[in-house]
Amino acid sequence: MSKEVEKDDVTGTETTGHEWDGIKELDTPMPRWWLWTMYGTIIWSIGYWIVMPAWPLVSSYTEGFLGYSSRGALEQELEEANEAQAGDRAALVTTELEDIKNNDQLYQFALRGGKSAFAVNCSQCHGSGAAGAPGFPNLNDDDWLWGGSVDQIYETIKYGIRSDHDDTRIGEMPAFLTNEMLDRSQINDVTEYVLSLSDTREDKEAVARGEVVFQENCASCHGENAKGNREFGAPNLTDAIWFYGKDKDVILRTISRGRNNVMPAWVDRLDDATIRQLALYVHSLGGGE
Ligand code: HEC
Ligand code: HEC
Repeated sequence: MSKEVEKDDVTGTETTGHEWDGIKELDTPMPRWWLWTMYGTIIWSIGYWIVMPAWPLVSSYTEGFLGYSSRGALEQELEEANEAQAGDRAALVTTELEDIKNNDQLYQFALRGGKSAFAVNCSQCHGSGAAGAPGFPNLNDDDWLWGGSVDQIYETIKYGIRSDHDDTRIGEMPAFLTNEMLDRSQINDVTEYVLSLSDTREDKEAVARGEVVFQENCASCHGENAKGNREFGAPNLTDAIWFYGKDKDVILRTISRGRNNVMPAWVDRLDDATIRQLALYVHSLGGGE
């Protein structure tokens, strides 16, 4: 059955034959420019498949003649950046840390690099402004557990604290209750004594008894005057700067169950130039010695 092709009187365009309430649908062809653009994109995409990575395969993908990858482009950019910095990085490694400050250009380079390496590697634990958190020391103040000279900071970062590296810094805060070295009342007394060193306490008798406990059990690490000892990383207990917290509960817990927080060693993860940048950066934060 052959179908009559009907033309619309006004536009001269063929109709599709569909009609609703006397309104007929026109069969207007696609504009030419539109069609050519579409053919153009199809041709373009075939060319693109051939030269660029495009189709996923079972375990890989079609790489394309150009073999481009954005990861490769990034690696190349990084390599170029590293090359541009190579001179400064080499100078960082061969110059004594203490002397780097005398070379303003090199020092600024170190601080910039240290700042960005800190944001990537250290801020999770020490905070983005290096202000720390309970159990993670503030690196902005001048209260150092292990020493605040740039060389000491360098060593801390390089080998870590109680880390799995052989040259790590070590020092233990024993668990006096768990290991039955002291009983609860002695721990309460010595806690009162520790608190009395930076604050006024009401129970003077407990403080006096606690001082005896302290001299017998704690002075070997924290010092007779409780000002700490960097050889063991034993904190100064007189300065009202608390590593784990200032509340009596926290201090009771520290003495009862011990504390031994870990700072990872970075020597196997970061190159020497970066560790030096970090040491100089941390040293510059305000409390360097
Ligand atoms: C996994 C958590 C963690 C990360 C990541 C970390 N640290 Fe630490 N850091 C610690 C802890 C915990 C201590 C305290 C250890 C202790 O109890 O003596 C510490 C101590 C330090 C100290 C010694 C402070 C003092 O008073 O002597 C320095 C310096 C330091 N960190 C620098 C860094 C730098 C620089 C980085 C990044 C490369 C870094 N840390 C990354 C947890 C971390
Ligand atoms: C063997 C050495 C050693 C002995 C003995 C020792 N300490 Fe410690 N103490 C440490 C170390 C090291 C730390 C830090 C622990 C850490 O970095 O995680 C510490 C931490 C502390 C803290 C936490 C300070 C803060 O700023 O939060 C308190 C409080 C404390 N000790 C009290 C005592 C008292 C009281 C005694 C005696 C009953 C004692 N310590 C005995 C080594 C010792």
